[in-house]
This record gives sequence, structure tokens and C-alpha cells, in this order.
Amino acid sequence: MAAFTINGSPHAFDGDPEMPLLWYLRDVAGMTGTKFGCGQALCGACTVHLGGTAVRSCQTFMGDIDGQAVVTIEGLSPDGMHPVQKAWRDLNVAQCGYCQVGQIMQAASLLRDTPNPTDAEIDSAMSGNICRCGTYPRIRAAIKLAATGA
Ligand code: FES
Ligand code: FES
Repeated sequence: MAAFTINGSPHAFDGDPEMPLLWYLRDVAGMTGTKFGCGQALCGACTVHLGGTAVRSCQTFMGDIDGQAVVTIEGLSPDGMHPVQKAWRDLNVAQCGYCQVGQIMQAASLLRDTPNPTDAEIDSAMSGNICRCGTYPRIRAAIKLAATGA
């Protein structure tokens, strides 16, 4: 039995401990904001926060999250006004949008740990989040804008 929270709400799970958290979020909890991309921790589309840290939910397993707090894009901000979300809108970062939830969750984790990241720190933190549309320049600009708090 795993007892944990998602966006502050309590959840309990006594099924297969090897079920990926991503499956639980989308198929059990009905939270489809988090996306499936590769399923192998190679693309970052499924990024959520676990205990305050960005993780790939496709390779995070239900047997390992007992007692932990999960935050998804649905819970990043109650009104969509997290500085990263605001900067993303201000700079029209998204193209097709498929990767963007993962990008936003990764960026929010970066800025929590490193409030004023350098280009190198941004590139390092975001290197595992793939965007097939090539929005990387706007992602970097939006992270810098979010860091200003504007
Ligand atoms: S779906 Fe998890 S990293 Fe690609
Ligand atoms: S915006 Fe299309 S994959 Fe990133």
C-alpha cells in the first residue's frame, strides 16, 4: 500500500508496485496534463515534481512514492499564474505544445533551486527535455523572464 498526495489531495494505491506513476496520473487519477512521450526517461514530456524535485513519471514507480508529495501541472498554481506559466504565455513559448508541460515543470524546479540561473545552468537543467518543434530559444528566454519575477 502506498499513501501519497497529488497536488495536496491524499491518494492510496495497493496495486502493482511497478506501475509507472505516469499511468496512475493519467489512467487512474484522470490527470491528463502530464504527457507520455518515450516511456524511457529520454524526453521529459512526463515530468512532475516528487518531494519538490523534477522527476520523470514514466520511470517513477508506485512502489517508491509512499509518503511523498506529487505535484503535476494541474497543481503547479491554483490559477495558472506561476511565474513560469506567466512567462511562457508572455513569450508564446509553445508551438505544438506536446512537450511544454514537461518543460514548465522542469523549469519551475530549476528556478526553485536556482532563482537566477545562468545560460549554462539553464541548458544543463533543461537538457533532458526534448522539443521536436525546436522552441529552445523561447524556453530559455522565458526562464530568464520568470527569474526576474516580471
Ligand atoms: S515519457 Fe517520460 S521521459 Fe519521455
Ligand atoms: S512545442 Fe512541439 S514538441 Fe515542444
